[in-house]
Amino acid sequence: MNTPNSGHQILVIHGPNLNMLGLREPDLYGSTRLDEIDAQLEELGRQWGITVHCFQSNHEGAIVDRIQSATTDMGGLIINPAAYTHTSIAIRDALLLLPIPIIEVHLSNIHKRETFRHHSFVSDVATGQIVGLGVNGYYLALRALADIIGATAST
Ligand code: DQA
Repeated sequence: MNTPNSGHQILVIHGPNLNMLGLREPDLYGSTRLDEIDAQLEELGRQWGITVHCFQSNHEGAIVDRIQSATTDMGGLIINPAAYTHTSIAIRDALLLLPIPIIEVHLSNIHKRETFRHHSFVSDVATGQIVGLGVNGYYLALRALADIIGATAST
């Protein structure tokens, strides 16, 4: 069995309105609730020897605070900044503090949507970006981070 260490902890941050997944524009974002996504990420993490910590906030400053607190103990970050993707230099600046791989995830394909969603303040500071694959984007991001940080399956 793996003992979780700094390389085996992944933080997942969900931005504003993602607490409403399942109810919010299901044609666009799907019917899976956020607690179901988080539970699946934690389960996949268990299988791959990773402790997954999930955090959601509707507040920009709270997201900045959570990113800052990840500098010492996390091996990687998955972030869906939601609408802050397109507006937040504060979140971008906080991400620049992190010396760890970062994967930006969007459920919808932001490049196929309104023009104001095409620009991301996060994508050029992220290791990679996954868009348009719905909830699978989160699971694929965790798989990619597991490979990047060298986590091994615990079973
Ligand atoms: C989103 C896309 C953003 O443009 C939007 O503001 C969201 C969700 C996505 O996951 O597709 O809230 O990040």
